[in-house]
Amino acid sequence: MWATNLRIIGIVLGTLALYTLIANKIPQVQSEVPHALTLGANVTPEQLVAAGDQLYHGAGGCTACHGLGTRAPNLLTDEKGLGPIGARCGKREAGKDCKAYLYESLTSPRAYVVSGYEPIMPEMGRILSPQQLWALVAFLESNSGTVDVSAADIPAASAASGATSGAAGIANGSTDPMTMIRGAGCTGCHKVGTEGGAIGPNLTHVGSRLSAALIRECILRPDTRVAKGYEKFVGVMPKMFGNQLTGAQLEALVQFLSSQK
Ligand code: HEC
Ligand code: HEC
Repeated sequence: MWATNLRIIGIVLGTLALYTLIANKIPQVQSEVPHALTLGANVTPEQLVAAGDQLYHGAGGCTACHGLGTRAPNLLTDEKGLGPIGARCGKREAGKDCKAYLYESLTSPRAYVVSGYEPIMPEMGRILSPQQLWALVAFLESNSGTVDVSAADIPAASAASGATSGAAGIANGSTDPMTMIRGAGCTGCHKVGTEGGAIGPNLTHVGSRLSAALIRECILRPDTRVAKGYEKFVGVMPKMFGNQLTGAQLEALVQFLSSQK
């Protein structure tokens, strides 16, 4: 009798452990990042533009802000008489050509903030891989400009590792909550304790108003629930965290935030 019970408990625990292991290995949401994209050493500018086009309109999340008219500058169409982004990118900052300006716009958006807009653009270098960033630069240039991005711009190491895996992962896979929160760029928009911005709701006491399940939902599908008072900012929170955080990271983040009472 005892032996049978122990065996059953053993099987149950074993199965649970197996599923936990599998769950932690699978990203929470099916990745939308184009998988067939292999930006190897001989990638052509045309391939980069096509990959950038897909990212821009899909997993990159750019259209949450750009192209709506007011939240962010138009990129594919004219902006205040200066033309589409490819036509104006070389004139934004003295001494920076188009390519350098666009790369900076994606990786350190606060370095030059287009006048008339709020500094709400996330640092894309934290979320996208170098190949993806360069594909976006090529695509932006192709809008009324000259595409001068080539395979030589893409760091050799990352080109060799393949384009499917994205960046090294948020915060290099760390499960330390504040390391993830900074690494994912949450503090670019949210205040957490004494640090962070004021574009999204303050998360310092988020655990006192949202359950762990709701917090998880807000991270994976930001648009399904709108925070009160932030109706005008729906769509601003990036939707790709589910692709970028591992299962273990997501759970550690949710645990931490729901304990912030
Ligand atoms: C949360 C909103 C938001 C998202 C998402 C976003 N941006 Fe932006 N972006 C802005 C805002 C606002 C500005 C203008 C203020 C500034 O310069 O930071 C801007 C500026 C830019 C500029 C400079 C434009 C100019 O006229 O000089 C480029 C290029 C750009 N974004 C590209 C992108 C790309 C590509 C993506 C997707 C990978 C993206 N942005 C995602 C809000 C956003
Ligand atoms: C580009 C800005 C931006 C970034 C980056 C961002 N958020 Fe948000 N977030 C928002 C905005 C705006 C809202 C409110 C609108 C909405 O609910 O969609 C929000 C809502 C939330 C909510 C719901 C809060 C409430 O009181 O209802 C949670 C939880 C949250 N974000 C967590 C995160 C976490 C965790 C990260 C980092 C992994 C993150 N956000 C990154 C802008 C951002």
